[in-house]
Amino acid sequence: LALVPTRTDLAGLTVAVSTGGTREPIDPVRFLGNRSSGRQGVEVALAAADRGAQVRLVAAHVDDGVLSAVAHHPRIGLERVSTAGDLRTAMHAAAADADVAVMVAAVADFRVDAVSDEKIRKEDGDGTATLRLVANPDILAELVAARGEAQTIVGFAAETATEDAELLDRGRRKRARKGVDLLAVNRVDWARGFEAAENAVVVIDDADDVVTEVSGSKRAVADALWDAVLAHRAR
Ligand code: CTP
Ligand code: CA
Repeated sequence: LALVPTRTDLAGLTVAVSTGGTREPIDPVRFLGNRSSGRQGVEVALAAADRGAQVRLVAAHVDDGVLSAVAHHPRIGLERVSTAGDLRTAMHAAAADADVAVMVAAVADFRVDAVSDEKIRKEDGDGTATLRLVANPDILAELVAARGEAQTIVGFAAETATEDAELLDRGRRKRARKGVDLLAVNRVDWARGFEAAENAVVVIDDADDVVTEVSGSKRAVADALWDAVLAHRAR
């Protein structure tokens, strides 16, 4: 039975995790989305729950089958959302009294300003179409602003970079901009990161130090992240 955790180093902690890609509607039949599978965030949730934590998982759109393992986990509560706005509301509620909040979701940076109630039809146009986009709120930055005492807040950043130094530099600047305790940074390109089973991340802390470097399965990455969270909380 997998219900009794073999390792219980996260017992007593309540954690909120977001995952998946948000979708921003254009009209009743179309949306703006992204390539996130939701797999890494689900592994972050499963790893925490398997190590004894109580987990609140806020899942935007994930690939088929990715959520099957969380559905019956005794320590995971699941809430499904669609847009960045939905995710924002759900994550604020989930994180409010949590010890740790981890934003793994790929949140749309922009939404469509005026969503059409009617399907947009070619025959109504002149051969061109323009979508006006407005920025969505930065949920992670809001969680940091609203943080409770002793709360640990973690972000995930997928970056494109040709060199490691550039990747680290971007990661450090983003960590500082967001004000998070820890930022996990992974490199993506057309072949790596999103749909792959494996992942490689570096974890940067609030002293700009690389505290963890891990590559392997998404579960291995998740476990290494929780190790980093525990070490950070023990400081
Ligand atoms: N994030 C968020 N709310 C947003 C956008 C991003 O909470 N509106 C979170 C993501 O869940 C992730 C972290 O911020 O944990 C970094 O996301 P990323 O897209 O890399 O950062 P951005 O600030 O959106 O910068 P960029 O312009 O590089 O996309
Ligand atoms: Ca972004």
